[in-house]
Amino acid sequence: MSAFVQSIRYEDRVLTILDQTRLPQEEHYEVITDLAQAVEAIKQLRVRGAPAISLFGGFVLVQEAYRFEAELSIYKQALLETSATLLATRPTAVNLRNVLDQLNPIIQDGTSVEEIRERLEKRTVALYDQDAQTSRQIGIHALELFQSGDRILTICNAGSIATAAYGTALAPFYIAKERGIELSVFASETRPLLQGARLTTWELQRAGIDVTLITDNMVAHTLKEKQIDAIIVGADRITRNGDTANKIGTFQLALLAQAFDIPFYVAAPLSTFDFSLVSGEAIEIEERDPQEVTAIQGVATAPAGVAVFNPAFDVTPHTLITGIITELGVITQPNEETIEQLTGLQPLG
Ligand code: MRU
Repeated sequence: MSAFVQSIRYEDRVLTILDQTRLPQEEHYEVITDLAQAVEAIKQLRVRGAPAISLFGGFVLVQEAYRFEAELSIYKQALLETSATLLATRPTAVNLRNVLDQLNPIIQDGTSVEEIRERLEKRTVALYDQDAQTSRQIGIHALELFQSGDRILTICNAGSIATAAYGTALAPFYIAKERGIELSVFASETRPLLQGARLTTWELQRAGIDVTLITDNMVAHTLKEKQIDAIIVGADRITRNGDTANKIGTFQLALLAQAFDIPFYVAAPLSTFDFSLVSGEAIEIEERDPQEVTAIQGVATAPAGVAVFNPAFDVTPHTLITGIITELGVITQPNEETIEQLTGLQPLG
């Protein structure tokens, strides 16, 4: 694991994040000391990527649990309020909710402050360790879909810094590197916040993985001119039928994959599934500050006062997805039946 930059560290009860807004200029680590700072870090995307947000949220709750002491019922109430505050930070990714759904019962059922603290910490550390294993398994399964020499396009950053290690969509490239298999990555820059340009190229270049940067409007031309073999993306929420929310721009990549007759893969852990939703229609799409569109890193690129639409995610219908790669294996032609067959999870409702 040590080969990866750790975007979240929890050591001796000190919680530290790699500030992803400062990359690639600066590898700056920030110690998180209170809830307001943690909430700001999530909202500003200092910590980002669905699995990383969920693990960070877990550690923030642990930190709060050790920060104060009170009569048991008051203590529980305050911690559950912290949990609700964390959940409200960003609406689209479901992983944080899935982690808090495991941590909240520890608070509710706790019989002492000490027991709650210890159990929250133990569970969150276990989830963190498990995430690295899960991501590695995703990478191993994804690599089976590629051949040496393949050129694969991705968007945003679903890499090691968006998880505990390896990433999801980027995991196969790390496994390929370990095994001496040559794969080339094409990274779409991912306006407005440039996670592809700033983060994906940074972490892949650092790992010695072949990566080429393109702007978002170069995708169709690149698919044609560079004979791209497949597209692979991460996910923020996958509904019961396989519809997938991911970074804005993902849907148009899936449409292009169909037009060019190349496979379109989604790589995500089971913690990204939301079996309470029947289809992607019900996914809440986060809309963000218009300034992210009217400026690039603080420099205006549009006239003041212009109307802006700034959705952070879009939904790709399952019919455009060739396969969803999970830690358990690949769900080909994802739909309600194929998802249930692989996950064994009973859909809710
Ligand atoms: O707004 P972001 O940067 O948090 O969006 C992240 C993505 O869309 C990722 O693809 C997704 O969270 C998966 S990260 C393994």
